[in-house]
Amino acid sequence: MSAETTLLILGATGDLTSRLLLPALAQLLTLEPHRRVRLRGAGREDWDDARWRETVRRSFEAGGNGTAFEAVADTTYERADITDPADLRRLLADHDGRLALYFAVPPAVAKAACEALVTLEIPAGTVLALEKPFGIDQATARELNATVARLVPEEQVFRIDHFLGRSTTLNLLGVRFANRVFAPVWRAQDIESVVIRYDESLGLEGRAGYYDKAGALADMIQSHLLQVMAIVAMEPPATLHERDFRDATSAVLRATRVWGDDPARASRRARYTAGTVGERALPAYADEEGVDPTRDTETLAELVCEVVTDRWAGVPFRLRSGKALPEKKGEVVVTFRRVNHVPDGLTGPAPGSVLRFSLGPDHMDLELNVNGGDDPFELERATIGADLGEGALKAYGEVLSGILDADAILSVRGDAAEESWRIVDPVLAAWRAGEVPLEEYAAGSLGPDGWPALP
Ligand code: BG6
Repeated sequence: MSAETTLLILGATGDLTSRLLLPALAQLLTLEPHRRVRLRGAGREDWDDARWRETVRRSFEAGGNGTAFEAVADTTYERADITDPADLRRLLADHDGRLALYFAVPPAVAKAACEALVTLEIPAGTVLALEKPFGIDQATARELNATVARLVPEEQVFRIDHFLGRSTTLNLLGVRFANRVFAPVWRAQDIESVVIRYDESLGLEGRAGYYDKAGALADMIQSHLLQVMAIVAMEPPATLHERDFRDATSAVLRATRVWGDDPARASRRARYTAGTVGERALPAYADEEGVDPTRDTETLAELVCEVVTDRWAGVPFRLRSGKALPEKKGEVVVTFRRVNHVPDGLTGPAPGSVLRFSLGPDHMDLELNVNGGDDPFELERATIGADLGEGALKAYGEVLSGILDADAILSVRGDAAEESWRIVDPVLAAWRAGEVPLEEYAAGSLGPDGWPALP
């Protein structure tokens, strides 16, 4: 039976392929066995089909979806320099159904490969999947967009952000848009602040080659948290089709400024020193192998933004993410304003209600003021919680299913990639100019003393 899609992984021998892509494909093929996918790998390494198949088989098994391997057991590997037009021509010639090219390679290689592709004829309908980071600033993102635009139409370009494939991120849509208790109050008049945080307990984990040049602001806030913010703040789209959805999220990013247009005051940065996270002792970031301490790379970053629209002006969106923190914790926390007046006679504090979404485990809590049990005239806090369910597919599985279906809703559109750099570029410039001190925090602590506590 011929395949509907040929998934050609460029950079197939790398870590991303075996650790994320192949397990995600395995999960997808297990849950959706009707899919007919032809899998091919290509890369610089001198592998043969047998070695590649073994890698695929092991990755499928590692995710507990070993039986799905049968569906791709005839997968093949080709040695190729993906920046060489002749090699690329050969690779493009061999496909069944729609071709999906997944660039599982460092950004510089992906860029060179895209430039090489410009000289070739690309089969109609071909989908390109590009990993983050997409450029290293607005100018380079724009250049890369211009190159990619010469290859295929925008709807066939997938700039990967696996946070958009997280079920919790998507669950925000249902809660926001399908409930009259939230839809009308989702605005500056009723919401005081929004926090989007992503704490990780992992340290550098041997990724100095990439991370030391990126840092937490580019690695997490530019790439992921601004996209999540765009979903929290978007105007209600008419449909969840790619065009409506991405028009709405891009409009948010276009309207976003750093707080007070003052990148130095709106941002914080810090780097971890030696410490213990749980049972694990971590060396200081600056002492990690491959790190150049003089780069002053931050491992914890915070940026406060404002979405300057009628709906949101005046509401701080505080985005924070870092590594070597006490526990993994991803959250969107929406804090509502206090009511204007609590009837005299009711005692106790009445802070604003808080709606909290945890990004894995997927959960939602609504914290409310209620009358106390012991004294009915005294207010106390109560929490209503709901498990949101994991979603059948993991984040990368969602992303991959979009690629195989050529449905770009869960990928970052070109203009959004440029906008998110436009937002963070002035912050990076202020940091380079030494306008924001690089603070320190011990691995395993919550961050430097003096950073605002998060709700
Ligand atoms: C990646 C970042 O995009 O996202 C990593 O490069 C980070 O540094 C990771 O650890 C976090 O996502 P997840 O899904 O692994 O928690």
